[in-house]
Amino acid sequence: MVKGEVTLRNRRQGSPAWLTDAAIYQIYPRSFQDSDGDGIGDLEGVRQRLPYVRSLGFDGIWLSPIYPSPLADGGYDISDHSAVDPVLGTLESFDALLAEARANKLKVLLDLVPSHTSIEHAWFRDHPEWYVWADGGPPNNWLSAFGGPAWSKDEPSGRWYLHSFYREQPDLNWRHPEVQEAVGQVMAFWLARGVDGFRVDAVDRLAKDPSLRDDHPATGPWLLPLPPEYATLSHVHSRDADDVDELVGVLRRRAGDAALIGEVYRPTEELERFVNHFDLVFAFEFMFASWHPEAIARVVEPAVRLGQIAWVLSNHDFSRLASRLGEDNLRLAATLLLTLPGAAFVFQGDELGLRDGPGVHPPFDRAGRDGSRHPMQWDATPTGGFSSARPWLPLVDPEHRNVETAEEDPSSLLTLYRSLLSLRRCFGTGFEVLLVDSTVLAYRRGQHVVTLNFGDEPRQAVGEGAVVLNTDPGQHFRIAPARGAAVLYAESSRSSCLR
Ligand code: GLC
Repeated sequence: MVKGEVTLRNRRQGSPAWLTDAAIYQIYPRSFQDSDGDGIGDLEGVRQRLPYVRSLGFDGIWLSPIYPSPLADGGYDISDHSAVDPVLGTLESFDALLAEARANKLKVLLDLVPSHTSIEHAWFRDHPEWYVWADGGPPNNWLSAFGGPAWSKDEPSGRWYLHSFYREQPDLNWRHPEVQEAVGQVMAFWLARGVDGFRVDAVDRLAKDPSLRDDHPATGPWLLPLPPEYATLSHVHSRDADDVDELVGVLRRRAGDAALIGEVYRPTEELERFVNHFDLVFAFEFMFASWHPEAIARVVEPAVRLGQIAWVLSNHDFSRLASRLGEDNLRLAATLLLTLPGAAFVFQGDELGLRDGPGVHPPFDRAGRDGSRHPMQWDATPTGGFSSARPWLPLVDPEHRNVETAEEDPSSLLTLYRSLLSLRRCFGTGFEVLLVDSTVLAYRRGQHVVTLNFGDEPRQAVGEGAVVLNTDPGQHFRIAPARGAAVLYAESSRSSCLR
């Protein structure tokens, strides 16, 4: 257990102060708001909805890829890094979005995908030497994360190229100085337009073993979930070579002091080497911890000690929170996510308790992730206020769950998100675990004490003081309801920074 109060540290001098405890809203642009009636969300739609994001209390947005893409991997297969996909808009609509974000005091993070491109990117034709090649067949047993070998034959040249993900996504060779230069120019392009930083995709794939040695058979289950075939190997050589820190340093030099948040899909104990250059890294072990207070405490404490953590419980790659944890746990999950010390990321629709959708046949994503990418539900109409046309993925249940209804309901999950986003501004960075037992996790945040009750019976809230938040809207006593939480404020009056 963390003994005594711990204060988050960020060891990178120049790390943006706003980011330390920022709340960031992840937008999957194709599924947020369609403005031009083609059934696909776009940047103008995002622009129109930014006041909503701000009104919830977020400090910024992270936009999943907005660039031209043949969509083999939902936009993570980029064919031009310095443009906007025409389906989503233009550079002008991006600038308008940015201006609206500024007007709403929202920071903007783009997705930077440095480790691979689309096979349709001009670089693959014009600069084949920027990619990773082998002659005469696959040189090793490396696997693609999405199934099958990580090597495919390039028919025109007869050579084999490496792809850590789909075969439509050849891996860049990050040890090639021109690759570093080209990606650096991409960053400079967007930073000059005014973005505040990047969520950096698949960082653990930047550097692989230069001598391309085989991966070993896995010796047991890994700490994070992996697709079954991929889990048969221990990825010691196909990921995170020794010089990965150096290569992330290149990204940092190119970024200056802009925010860089690393998607490093590793357990917390392996994140240390990444935080020299990233401002934050996502807490994936936290995302997948068993829903039990002792298990949560075990993953929270090392992450707090690491310091530069971005808490996250859901994104566009995994089953949605409501489907993973069940609706009964959503208030507890929101309170946990938004009261821990440090930055927190919320995936669009989680404030509504949006569940996984059924996807479509044939699927857009061959790895089965369409379910978590269904459109936002703004109102109760059949297309949920998302589009005037047939949405590219169907809505899930707008008649039961939508922003319009939730906004009017003081007991809705959305109202709880709003309260938590307001309350977290009062906390500061200090953190001290006070109690962990088989049903309760309680911690101090500055003058506040948060009691999270994972059990089926109500529990007394830990600490003294006035109740400033209870996940059961009717409950004003010092009781943490079953699968809920209470937050007490240690002074006799209410905290002045609460709205
Ligand atoms: C990241 C993205 C995921 C994508 C993969 C390859 O994990 O979040 O959506 O498929 O990288 O780019």
